[in-house]
Amino acid sequence: MTFQDHGAHFITATGHNGVEGAPALYFRRAFDTGNDLRRATLRITAVGVFEAHLNGTVIGDEVLAPGWTSYRNRLIVSTHDVTDLLVPGENALGVIVGEGWALGRLGWEGKRNHYSDQAGVYFELALETADGTEYIVSDTTSRANIGGLRANSIYDGEDYDATLESHGWDAPGFDDAAWGSVEVLDWPMESLAEPIAEPIRRTEELTPVAVLTTPAGRSVLDFGQNVSGRVRFTVEGQRGSTIELRHAEVMTNGEMDYETIRGAKATDRYTLSGRGPETWEPRFTFHGFRYVDVEGWPGDLKAADIVAVVTHTDMERIGWFETSNPLLNQLHSNAVWSMRDNFVGVPTDCPQRDERLGWTGDLNAFGPTAAFLYDVRGVLGSWLTDLAIEQKLSGNVPWVVPDVLSTPSSPTALWSDVAVSLPWTLYREYGDEDILRASYESMTSFIRQVAGLLDENGLWSKGFQYGDWLDPDAPMDNPAGGKTDRHLVAAAYLCKSTREMAQTAKVLGYTSDADEFTALAEKVRDAFRHEYVAPSGRVVNETVTGYALAITFNILTPEEKAHAGKQLAGMVAKAGYRISTGFAGTPLVTDALSSTGHLDEAYMLLLETGCPSFLYPVTMGATTIWERWDSIRPDGSVNPSGMTSLNHYALGAVVDWMHRTIGGLTADAPGYKSMRIAPHIGGDLTHATLRHNTSHGEVCVAWKLEDNRVILNVSIPAATTAIVDLPLHPDNTTVHIEAGDHQWDYERIVAEQQSYSMDTPLGVLAGTPEVWRRVSAVFAEHLPGIPIDGTAPEAAAMSLNTIVEFIPGASQALIDDLTAAVTPEGANA
Ligand code: BGC
Repeated sequence: MTFQDHGAHFITATGHNGVEGAPALYFRRAFDTGNDLRRATLRITAVGVFEAHLNGTVIGDEVLAPGWTSYRNRLIVSTHDVTDLLVPGENALGVIVGEGWALGRLGWEGKRNHYSDQAGVYFELALETADGTEYIVSDTTSRANIGGLRANSIYDGEDYDATLESHGWDAPGFDDAAWGSVEVLDWPMESLAEPIAEPIRRTEELTPVAVLTTPAGRSVLDFGQNVSGRVRFTVEGQRGSTIELRHAEVMTNGEMDYETIRGAKATDRYTLSGRGPETWEPRFTFHGFRYVDVEGWPGDLKAADIVAVVTHTDMERIGWFETSNPLLNQLHSNAVWSMRDNFVGVPTDCPQRDERLGWTGDLNAFGPTAAFLYDVRGVLGSWLTDLAIEQKLSGNVPWVVPDVLSTPSSPTALWSDVAVSLPWTLYREYGDEDILRASYESMTSFIRQVAGLLDENGLWSKGFQYGDWLDPDAPMDNPAGGKTDRHLVAAAYLCKSTREMAQTAKVLGYTSDADEFTALAEKVRDAFRHEYVAPSGRVVNETVTGYALAITFNILTPEEKAHAGKQLAGMVAKAGYRISTGFAGTPLVTDALSSTGHLDEAYMLLLETGCPSFLYPVTMGATTIWERWDSIRPDGSVNPSGMTSLNHYALGAVVDWMHRTIGGLTADAPGYKSMRIAPHIGGDLTHATLRHNTSHGEVCVAWKLEDNRVILNVSIPAATTAIVDLPLHPDNTTVHIEAGDHQWDYERIVAEQQSYSMDTPLGVLAGTPEVWRRVSAVFAEHLPGIPIDGTAPEAAAMSLNTIVEFIPGASQALIDDLTAAVTPEGANA
């Protein structure tokens, strides 16, 4: 929408220089209204972040407005109905403006003022009466000053001195004669834009679960959950005394550990006015934290004194999932929290350190999970709008959106192809073709750009790639240096994105584009197969990620896929169900296993707790998803790589598999107009419940095992249909259902109890995931570092008795533990 010009300008305080540590600006505009006011509407935004007040009251419930967008192209204007806040006669509008994302430091390179050197405000207050509308606008008649808010920074925190606040500055009757003048700030008026995303709001308050005194004598509050936000407290004490709050995600050796916040200071300071109980919450910062070190609190610090205020984009929750396994439930909760904590205006990598950028690859990995858990059409629609604008301006999809990196981005698999895969994911989830239409130009330009980069064989084989970022076997200082060839990763992701592009063109009816992209998709798939797939289906760069990509991106024929699945299952077993994938492979590996008939192995991988694994962080007390599989190492220390966050959602993408496979819900038609409901029961789970508010209404799938019976309850909304595969049904029954509630209750197939011994061939043991897991654990304990591969041809035929004979001086303890591992009682050991 275009904004009508009623004379408002962006204004700043005369002489204000926007340097680091500068106090926030306070603007004030007094005006009169008559008795005949019908309606008053305020439209307001800022270069920086703002809080608006009218007659002494804070307007609305948004925080950190206007959020973060590609400001010079799109600066979001908030609209508030303020009729009830106005009084006949004199009124006063006040606005505090902090540095926020527009002026503050962004990125680990220490650079600031990415969008402007000066902070500013723009407002237009429309006063409607019977005689017409009068506009009170931001112009040079406003006054400006500084007040209690001495310094504010997203990364470093806020410093507020209540002794310096002018009482009543935002109310009528205040004398602003001593305040300074304002001047016009040069800012592109065409940037003014209506919001697409929901605003950032306070969404929850947490009270501390513990008040600690550390060995060093520090007072620390533990909120029990890693969150994004800040604290609020009410305090009484001496004028001029200062409380200092320092935030961290983790404590090690009983003390606060600031390693994971890197160069962010995450420190808030409040100096008391001494005027009775005073309540404070920082305005223009947020921290990623679970613990707060409190210094200078007058008297004894009690849990009731301080709350954590969870702050993020206020999206609507639409997906829930719960099982009989508490560790899995915690993993799910960790993914939900990492999503909440990282959707602060834009979808970020992490909320705590000197980064918090809109990294494209992280979101591409987590996109399907995010779209199921929350309605992200607003926040990601807004983000994709900026992505498209910045892509058009620079010619590349930026690695971070909005782009503030000094290194120019280049086309990169999993990162840049979010331009295609995210709109496709959102379309599949919400069923709205307009999502594809809005992104179509961005999608096609990315795909055509990459098409121009392919080598003579049709492979994407040149240029920088992040590869399987953070593969646990990559060197600590080179997260892109994983086991899987980076160009294999790129070529595989291109198979996926070109197919999605071709499907998009078909959905939108662009026939010749559809032909072009279908041909391209076939070409890149052929190129991948030619370069990386043996005729048997073996993927030449034999890694778990390599197989996961080839299997899930439909690159293989059914026969090859079956062979690849077998190879993959063997590799996963050989690794003792420890995870061996990074950002590119992790979202796919469980799918690759379950879609090739290796459900047991998928569950084994999901339920493994050793380091590194999906559940290892849960066993270490994680309340969010970590950036690295071993962000906290088994000895309790923080991974010292310098890039360790405890709140990165990307590796939580497995939760999408949990929804689709354990919960069993997938959309057959976009937006769940028709769906497939096929829960896959395994991993000793005895029940699971999934709920999802689709655009057609609520879907609920709940199954439980009772003795030998399966009880399945499904309800689907009006005007939808589903095909239901009854899990563990003796006749493999599939049913078509229509809207309404459905229940099935039947006797399930019970797998025959196999018996194993020290004479069972290794190949057979290796084919039974739980037994193999116990056997590998015994070998790992007694003979650490010696790999044992039960599927290798030379080993598969041997029994444990034979193997033990080969081990010089095999201890009786080894033999006893192996015997226990293969007997049914071993299961209970
Ligand atoms: C971020 C990531 C991101 C990566 C790519 C990191 O610093 O935290 O999650 O995707 O850089 O370079």
